[in-house]
Amino acid sequence: MSGIEHGHVPVLLDEIMEALSPGPGDVVLDCTLGRGGHALAMGGRIGQDGLLIGVDRDADNLAYAGKRLEEEGVPHLTIHDSFVSITRHLAKLERSVDVVLADLGVSSNQLDTPARGFGFQEDAPLDMRLDHSGDTEDVRGLLARIGESELAQLIRTFGEDPYATTIARKIVNAREDGPITTTRQLADLVKAAYGAKAHASRVHPATRTFMALRIAINEEIPSLEILLDLISRGCETASAGGWINENARIGIISFHSLEDRPVKQAFSRWQKQGLVAGLTSGVVRPGEAEIQANPRSRSAKFRAVQVTGPNRPK
Ligand SMILES: C[S@@+](CC[C@H](N)C(=O)[O-])C[C@H]1O[C@@H](n2cnc3c(N)ncnc32)[C@H](O)[C@@H]1O
Repeated sequence: MSGIEHGHVPVLLDEIMEALSPGPGDVVLDCTLGRGGHALAMGGRIGQDGLLIGVDRDADNLAYAGKRLEEEGVPHLTIHDSFVSITRHLAKLERSVDVVLADLGVSSNQLDTPARGFGFQEDAPLDMRLDHSGDTEDVRGLLARIGESELAQLIRTFGEDPYATTIARKIVNAREDGPITTTRQLADLVKAAYGAKAHASRVHPATRTFMALRIAINEEIPSLEILLDLISRGCETASAGGWINENARIGIISFHSLEDRPVKQAFSRWQKQGLVAGLTSGVVRPGEAEIQANPRSRSAKFRAVQVTGPNRPK
């Protein structure tokens, strides 16, 4: 059920099922449905009285996962949108939830489809958008307009690349000879910015720049901040008919420190406020066996909490 034949292997599946423990009749919200690996496992526990609500910005992933849920007879709804809009959808559906999962970032099939522009093994247009449905800017557009210092800042912040300044200058200079439109073009420019140091790098020197641009173009960090705010308000209003039910379990999987830091801080703040209790003791990481079987799980970090109610004055 969870294999790579679906384009993505769900990480930390057993640990997530144990912590979030979806049960009969539960309404489960999967904020990042992806290929449906986690959703299918959770959906298998909720019975015919439960409901699995799956959200994704990527229409192809959403359709793929929706079909899997359909085939397995899981009662479900799919929503093509960013999770930042989730409370609007739930209000319209008149639903509140017992389980919330967000598995941040991108799925393997997205990374591995050259035409999406996330990688540079093959030459392809520099797109990197998760959602193609609107008239949103892609990386080509971003690189055509962004100023040098803003670009350097972006690569430094989201890619943590020590050569951010040199890379930005190289890109901006190259732009004078014509637009940067393909993955190979960008990868070659970054490699040239690294110069002789490119050989010392364990991964391709362009890896961090590509990650930074992907995070920026999809507004991944602001979206996570909004989701955390929504969850925070949901926890505060759990006993008053808010979108998150009392005793609900909330889990977030992150893949780099820019994601994990705000999650860790928010969870710890809510615990101090008495809104939630920890379900995992700190962070849960994949074991060696999982990393061997699925090397992309290596950087996964999972944290989970359970809603306890508002902070009542003593
Ligand atoms: C790591 S994958 C999820 C994989 C999924 N758990 C599974 O088992 O197949 C992340 C998914 O989240 C989606 N995504 C990323 N940011 C999103 C956002 N702000 N709102 C909704 N979906 C988002 C991506 O399109 C991708 O399909």
